[in-house]
Amino acid sequence: MTDIREIAANELDSDQAAAELARLAKEIALHDKLYHADDSPEISDAEYDQLRRRNSEIEKQFPQLVRADSPSKTVGSLPSSGFQKVEHRRPMLSLDNAFDADDVHEFAARVKRFLSIDDADTIELLAEPKIDGLSAALRYENGVFVQGLTRGDGKTGEDITENLKTIDQIPLTLKGDGWPDVLEVRGEVYMAKDDFEALNKRQIEKEKSPFANPRNAAAGSLRQLDSTITKSRALKFFAYSWGEISSTLGETQRDAIEHFASWGFTINDMVFVSDDVDAIINHYEMISEQRSKLSYDIDGVVYKVNRLDYQDRLGMVARAPRWAIAHKFPAEKATTTLNDVDYQVGRTGAITPVARLEPVTVGGVVVSNATLHNADEIERLGIKIGDEVVIQRAGDVIPQVVEVAKTSEDNKKIEFPEVCPSCESHLIREGDDVVWRCSGGLICPAQRVERLRHFVSRNAFDIDGLGNKQIEFFFKEGMISSPADIFRLQQMDEAAPLTSLKNREGWGELSVSNLWDAINERRTISMDRFLFSLGIRHLGQQNARLMCLNYLTIENFLENIREASDKESEAYARLLSIDGIGEKVADAIVDFIIEPQNTAVVDDLLSQITVEEFEPPETGNSKIAGKIIVFTGKLEKLSRQEAKASAESLGAKVSSSVSGKTDILVAGPGAGSKLKKATELGIEILSEEAWLELI
Ligand code: IVH
Repeated sequence: MTDIREIAANELDSDQAAAELARLAKEIALHDKLYHADDSPEISDAEYDQLRRRNSEIEKQFPQLVRADSPSKTVGSLPSSGFQKVEHRRPMLSLDNAFDADDVHEFAARVKRFLSIDDADTIELLAEPKIDGLSAALRYENGVFVQGLTRGDGKTGEDITENLKTIDQIPLTLKGDGWPDVLEVRGEVYMAKDDFEALNKRQIEKEKSPFANPRNAAAGSLRQLDSTITKSRALKFFAYSWGEISSTLGETQRDAIEHFASWGFTINDMVFVSDDVDAIINHYEMISEQRSKLSYDIDGVVYKVNRLDYQDRLGMVARAPRWAIAHKFPAEKATTTLNDVDYQVGRTGAITPVARLEPVTVGGVVVSNATLHNADEIERLGIKIGDEVVIQRAGDVIPQVVEVAKTSEDNKKIEFPEVCPSCESHLIREGDDVVWRCSGGLICPAQRVERLRHFVSRNAFDIDGLGNKQIEFFFKEGMISSPADIFRLQQMDEAAPLTSLKNREGWGELSVSNLWDAINERRTISMDRFLFSLGIRHLGQQNARLMCLNYLTIENFLENIREASDKESEAYARLLSIDGIGEKVADAIVDFIIEPQNTAVVDDLLSQITVEEFEPPETGNSKIAGKIIVFTGKLEKLSRQEAKASAESLGAKVSSSVSGKTDILVAGPGAGSKLKKATELGIEILSEEAWLELI
């Protein structure tokens, strides 16, 4: 007998059609639930589409048989490799934080130093609330909204155009005139507090779990694959920034957002501009007092240099602009009981005591763990198990224990361990370091897991579907013990069909094949991500980039660093001459690279993957790309920092010392030994004036 599933829709009789429609309704509902509610789909998108297509074909043939629970009537079940990933044309940055008035004054001073503005002179700042929502980038072409992206990792976002179109405060076509042909407006999508309360009430009525706070509710609403759900959730939008633009938006930040308002966007009504830092801080205090009465959540106030030409000159560092800072509201506090202390072992062996707390809500989030930092901090707090403690949580920072509120004689003293809780190697403390570290190195399982976690983390290899939980699983199963193993996983899995991953609990065919795809996608990796992923102490994203700029290929880097293990070598001098790399960082890099165990790990990894050659940032047709520049003496128009940043942005390398490799010495008044040496070596010497002309 033929399976009725094989019979074409137009050849079914009506009994068969009814049976098929019943089966399809049940199956599609099951896969909807697996996908949407359980986040663990079991069939591919194509297979899912196939089911839906067959359902509608049969319904077309037998309209009288359409069921009340027909999948064609249900929403919320669009197919779903999720959203399309799209690269931002200009990166979406984050903000540095200021926590008190001193930090804000320091910010203003820093800006002036960079711009070489006299300390007595003033600089205008614009202040506005920092909205606690999700940022989005909206692209308009000739006044028409064509694409909307999430921030993602700042470089690549997800296309959520359809969902953004449902937000009333996002105009589909711009009002007025004078907008640039290409205009990317950026701002914050958020949910007002009363809309959040109403949504949660509805969630509870429908026996669905409520959202923890308006921000989570906004995120959940924006990430719906079905935009009719997004439409049913009241979302709002404040415009405060921009990405790509084909013509200028005026002379100041204020001009720009006023244009936004005239084109139909909502801008915040608590914007304030002043050249007096104290007045700006008063505005912060005012907003802070209003905070609880506002109709939406905010978590601080953002200050921005008002003049756009200054913003351009200031540029960015790492992932944040130099021209803006977020002044955060003080942390929220709560009191709870310390139930116990656990000890976590970090990637570099650092032992961090973690307070296990009686769960308590702080600022809308349930907290049950908080960091105690280190042994000295436990001593300083004089904390004991059973004490009532005050904890605080500021934004996305890990909650901390700040003080003991109440203790008793009987409460138990905290005994800091003498050996590593993971591998029992003894703990060591170097110099005046407050941190105890496990001496087990690569034999310590905890350190190894942490390194692997770091390896796949967002700014490193960023492998979708390989998060903390999965890393721990593969490590425990003995399937991954070093980074290279990740790239052998598929081959191993396919060689052992009996224990195949797709048959294990928590894994399905689709999730496994997605994982292989995600891993294979990373077989070619950029050099900065690669270096960062190794988890070398003091080699964060910024220093990784410096290594890339200066060594360009991984082979060249490794060769130079190995040579640099001889401190008398030219290679060591070269490493130290990189502006921004001091002895501590240089030694950490060399120590890591020459350590035989690490060499084996790195070589093994390189046998599995390709590291791309570093492409210096776009330099137009810069005459100084690739050149090594040294600045010395006093510069008058530019601060040293701006000079350096502008040279680097044109593809040059800035060094702190003169050598045979130096291409140009820029010398201001008061130049001494460097000028002398450069003259002796016959290196090109420029005045500040001549340098400015050159760039
Ligand atoms: S300006 C170049 N203004 O805060 C940076 N950001 O912590 C442009 N945010 O990613 C951002 N309110 O999502 C700016 N009034 C405001 C903001 C704001 C909220 C968010 C934004 C950013 C994050 C950084």
